[in-house]
Amino acid sequence: MRPLVKEILALSPESQEVTVQGWVKTKRETKNLVFLDVNDGSCFAGIQCTFNRLETEADPALSGISTGASVKIWGRLVPSPASGQAVEIAAAGMEVLGGAPPESYPLQKKKHSFEFLREIAHLRARTNTFAAIARVRSRMAMAVHEFFQSRGFFYINTPIITASDAEGAGAMFQVSTLDTEALLKSGKAPDYTKDFFGKRAYLTVSGQLEAETYACAVGRVYTFGPTFRAENSNTVRHLAEFWMIEPEMAFARLEDNMDLAEDFLKFIFKTALHDCESDLKFFDERIEHGIRDVLISVAESRFSRISYTDAVRELEKNAGAFEFKPYWGCDLQSEHERFLTEKVAEGPVIVTDYPKDIKAFYMKLNDDGKTVGAMDVLVPRLGEIIGGSERENDLSRLEERMRSLNMESDHYEWYLDLRRYGTVPHAGFGLGFERLIQYITGMANIRDVIPYPRAVGQAEF
Ligand code: 4AD
Ligand code: MG
Repeated sequence: MRPLVKEILALSPESQEVTVQGWVKTKRETKNLVFLDVNDGSCFAGIQCTFNRLETEADPALSGISTGASVKIWGRLVPSPASGQAVEIAAAGMEVLGGAPPESYPLQKKKHSFEFLREIAHLRARTNTFAAIARVRSRMAMAVHEFFQSRGFFYINTPIITASDAEGAGAMFQVSTLDTEALLKSGKAPDYTKDFFGKRAYLTVSGQLEAETYACAVGRVYTFGPTFRAENSNTVRHLAEFWMIEPEMAFARLEDNMDLAEDFLKFIFKTALHDCESDLKFFDERIEHGIRDVLISVAESRFSRISYTDAVRELEKNAGAFEFKPYWGCDLQSEHERFLTEKVAEGPVIVTDYPKDIKAFYMKLNDDGKTVGAMDVLVPRLGEIIGGSERENDLSRLEERMRSLNMESDHYEWYLDLRRYGTVPHAGFGLGFERLIQYITGMANIRDVIPYPRAVGQAEF
């Protein structure tokens, strides 16, 4: 296999012969020298290849080369006189693998808007920003597994097609093989018993309920998979398809859940700081100033914890600052969340014990009969990054709650069985992987931290 630019840059320049393959980022020329910056995406930096026109035979090819062309270049690795790079290649020859005509290649040297780049998502990974995001995303996915695996959690794969609405929020994409056009023409109501699964089915909004069944068997589990929400929310922090990480622990209470969430985020941030140094430097300098310091301080400080009731009291004191008036019982809006984390806590904050009426059916009812053992982790800039809870493990309370929400309990008998047989206190949470990547990179729009975003009106590629 070819050596990566990352590997070549780490070699010592003892006149080694090397061959590099990659894409030309920039080309600069002086009278006798031509400099190509060649990048292969393996790391942030490219390697400079210097051609001496008088000594190399590459000249005809060289003159036709422009940004985006793919090349194979060979020569000697030598110490670089230029600042910011230890080594460069004194090129002896070159082969052009594929040109990129400057009249039509969309990624010229100038800076493009992220909106424009979203339209050419198949090419945007060739920019510094999107290549850096891809590398960070990959490393963070690995860090998720490292964290849970080293703490006795098993990775489980929950179904993507499901008949149950895990969040009870109804924002689900239906999956069906019924011929909708024929149905429309016939004027008949669809008969789902004739559908592929013999009943209505959907894309999952969360793997939590199935994760609970495994936690109540093997103790600690986590999922890491795609989830889907048909919410009509056109915001910078919502996707219709996103990746969620959902740990679930048996014999655990809300307190354990909060500790896990805090340890988890800190571990992830430390890994990013340690292993994605040059990419983070770029995000810090070019995308969101100070993001590295934020990550460092978050990784080292203790997260604040505040009850929903106290949080609302803080918001009410500043009611003038908001578009939506805060009151006890209101669902916290993004502006409220940001105020709590940015102004009240001045850092990450875990809000607990929300009113039961604004939270999902499975959350454990507190002794006050009004609130549930929920926890949301809020971070500056984004607001909610994690949502979780202790689960209702009492059969009759859970049944009562489901009745009050008119849920069809026959779809959830299997879920209720966990409370019928060997029920245990258990808890878990969900972290949106894209929100995490957004937080680490400082990218403003969630659509820019997943290769091919799916959102309202957007399913290209
Ligand atoms: O708060 P949510 O809806 O919680 C659940 O789905 C629970 N079943 C989790 C659990 O306890 N196992 O979603 C969890 C997280 C949010 O905090 C957010 O980070 C992310 O998932 N999220 C989204 N990310 C991108 N786009 C969306 N539309 C999202 N909706 C939620
Ligand atoms: Mg939530």
